[in-house]
Amino acid sequence: MGPRTVGVGLLGCGTVGGTLARTLQSDHERLLRETGLDFSLRRVVVRDADKSREGVPSTLLSTRWEDLLSPEIQVVVEVAGGAGPTFEILKRLIVGGKHIVTANKVVVSEHGDELLDLARRHRRWVGFEASVGAGVPVLHLVREALAGTPVSRVVGILNGTTNYILTRMEECSETQEAALRSAQRAGFAEADPSMDLDGVDAAQKAAILATLLTRQVVHGRDVPTEGIRQVTASDIASARRFQCSLRLLALITCEASDLEVRVHPCLVPSRHPLASVRDQQNAVWVESPLSGPLLLSGLGAGGGPTTSALLADLVDIGWHLGVFEDAAPPWESVGRLRLRPSGESVRRNYLRFAVADQAGVIGEVTTILGSHGISIESVHAGVEDGSSGEGTLEILTDDSRERDMADAVKACEALAQVLGPCRRIRCL
Ligand code: HSE
Repeated sequence: MGPRTVGVGLLGCGTVGGTLARTLQSDHERLLRETGLDFSLRRVVVRDADKSREGVPSTLLSTRWEDLLSPEIQVVVEVAGGAGPTFEILKRLIVGGKHIVTANKVVVSEHGDELLDLARRHRRWVGFEASVGAGVPVLHLVREALAGTPVSRVVGILNGTTNYILTRMEECSETQEAALRSAQRAGFAEADPSMDLDGVDAAQKAAILATLLTRQVVHGRDVPTEGIRQVTASDIASARRFQCSLRLLALITCEASDLEVRVHPCLVPSRHPLASVRDQQNAVWVESPLSGPLLLSGLGAGGGPTTSALLADLVDIGWHLGVFEDAAPPWESVGRLRLRPSGESVRRNYLRFAVADQAGVIGEVTTILGSHGISIESVHAGVEDGSSGEGTLEILTDDSRERDMADAVKACEALAQVLGPCRRIRCL
């Protein structure tokens, strides 16, 4: 049997689309040899067809997405980004018989269930490896390598920009603003920085990962999320004092009937492998009673790493052409788990209070924590230099319920000896 030809259409041709288009052409022989697939790029749909794109023949350019419905195209790769209009086009392409490969975390995290249901009904495949972790094959790991393995917890560093910022603050004492500017120059920050800084991007990726892991639909908007805007140099110094690093983590905990998905900054003990994931690296730490812990890390953004993920889905679809069309992909949401309300989440917490340098303040604060059922792992008290009459009280708690912790912190803040809002950072 000769090689199988796979006609590819591209929707969008920015950094990622351009890299994929060039790779499909420059690596054509290698891909043919290694996969038996003869990839043929047949259309590239862009907003402005007059703009020249290095390595992309101008004869392939079009501004009409309808051109992707051509019978010579079997798979459309979407790297246009955006939400509503792109989602509508993807639906029309599926109904028109195209398999889809997408890097679009917004569409997948908000409409993935609808898209996959539509694809199942039309016997088409949607590959979205590139939407989470780019060059880190996170989704293939949980869907294939760990198929059948029970997973109890996934902890992910899923946003390169915030990891880069936190590393620069930690290692070079850079300000958050300066580090964000470097991330923007390097090209991995979102056009709207709040998507990175406020944890929205990480929450979208966490929702996709949680959905795939459990087949319980989770939308990005349902994930309790706190970003890194509040993280200061004092937090970094406190983390260091407790032999920890600060990381923005996505935490997915699967229990018999409950699923917890959260995104927030966390103190990560220096000895934990995630503490050494630096700069724009992404990583996932997977815990399973069967396989034991597993760490996968690499580049979570950029033309090359994202193209690597797109190619994996393209090859997968190429290999299964004619198979997917006969048997619906085994996706069906099951909806059997309860998404655990934020207040029920349990973990250790770091608390920092500015307090009056008076006798009894430690006792007052710890008594309030105790009355909310919160036990304490360690306490560190220090007095400001220059006898300002102020001190700092730092407390590391044992596992505590989110709701109890919030109530206790509020009660502590109401004490006359507590001089301002408490800084609370959750711990891994
Ligand atoms: N802004 C994203 C990040 C790009 O920093 O991880 C990749 O999704």
